[in-house]
Amino acid sequence: MVRPISGKDVCVRAAMLCLALWTSAACHAGEVEVLHYWTSGGEAKSLGELKGMMTNRGHSWKDFAVTGGGGQNAMSVLKQRVLSGAAPAAALIKGPTIQEWAELNVLTNLDAMAEFEKWDALLPKVIADQMKHQGHYVAVPVNVHRVNWLWANSAVLRKAGVTSLPRTYDEFFAAADKIKAAGFIAVAHGGQDWQDFTVFESVVLGVGGAAFYNNALVQLDKRSLASDTMRQSLEVFRRLKSYVDDKASGRDWNVATDMVIKGKAGFQFMGDWAKGEFLAAGQRPGVDFSCSAAPGTDTAYTFNVDSFAMFQLKPWEAQKAQGYLAYLLMGQDFQEKFNLRKGSIPARLHMDMEKFDACAKASSKDFVAASKAGTLVPSIAHGMAVSTAAQTALRAVVSDFWNSDKTTVGDAMSKLVLAASTKPR
Ligand code: BGC
Repeated sequence: MVRPISGKDVCVRAAMLCLALWTSAACHAGEVEVLHYWTSGGEAKSLGELKGMMTNRGHSWKDFAVTGGGGQNAMSVLKQRVLSGAAPAAALIKGPTIQEWAELNVLTNLDAMAEFEKWDALLPKVIADQMKHQGHYVAVPVNVHRVNWLWANSAVLRKAGVTSLPRTYDEFFAAADKIKAAGFIAVAHGGQDWQDFTVFESVVLGVGGAAFYNNALVQLDKRSLASDTMRQSLEVFRRLKSYVDDKASGRDWNVATDMVIKGKAGFQFMGDWAKGEFLAAGQRPGVDFSCSAAPGTDTAYTFNVDSFAMFQLKPWEAQKAQGYLAYLLMGQDFQEKFNLRKGSIPARLHMDMEKFDACAKASSKDFVAASKAGTLVPSIAHGMAVSTAAQTALRAVVSDFWNSDKTTVGDAMSKLVLAASTKPR
């Protein structure tokens, strides 16, 4: 539960006062400890923008990085820290998990800052709603990642004679066959459960469409999970595996992206944090690599919003630094610089997209179009759609199906139905 705003919610008020009176003695800088899992090349560069902005203002940054893409490790470490009474100032927490933390009454109420800075008017409602618990802001969104992307190495496609980007799975498998025949790995993949789940959700969206995705993977409707459409999705998903090399097990996502960057592999299914890696490696979209919607998904959009929740802190200096962090995260300057590197687009509305590349411009346009068309759906693999417990259970089923050829499509559907009943703890 989050308390309604009161005189006790000082951190954001103090920070706001300090923003106005920076020279005042009351505004000495403080330290922020920030838990995150942004440790790949592109991610670290993006986060560097934030660290620089905090330290330029005199605050000190205590990095609390927990390796492991998708953030599962980070979330376990965070639990231990909070339970032992040593919460960081801020943590990268997303989607329904924000509500789970807010229920424990450990998050800071950010309403004063949000009202002062007019966050309601600056954020799409679908994002603002996820940042609030019982109507009170408890987290700050920094971006929108699109998950349903297919990345490709332009030279590999050219050498393999693939002349256009695949828009359907028939086209995709035809292209993948050519890439394989030309001696390349067709699909770069990292065999970790969250990566399997990332590919799976794009396949479900491509095979079934946004309404089906919503029924099956957001509402967890059992009939949809056991339907013919789910059967077809699982078949396509299994077929994809035959295009992955046999050393994929345990591989990190950015190592898989590097296989595309270096021209060892043709395609990767991954959210647009992968673009951060292409950019960090000096590659140019539309020239060295391409971004296109995963097959069958060009009119839909799976969103994944990175956000920071602020934990309640006692020391006054720490509260002020924390308030400044919250202010900075929603600022235009940070949202532009950070997202130019991260591969995502700003969460904040009305931003000038001039400096952004064609992939980001397409993402921004498609986000609006999908939102109007009702085809904007939350990513289940990235913690936007269901409770942590249900996400964990469904991810295990999908990953087991991917890894074990003995599990039949029928078994997987029955297990999905069972996993969908998992209640939040
Ligand atoms: C996060 C991204 C991150 C990616 C890989 C996603 O769940 O939203 O910010 O780059 O995982 O760790």
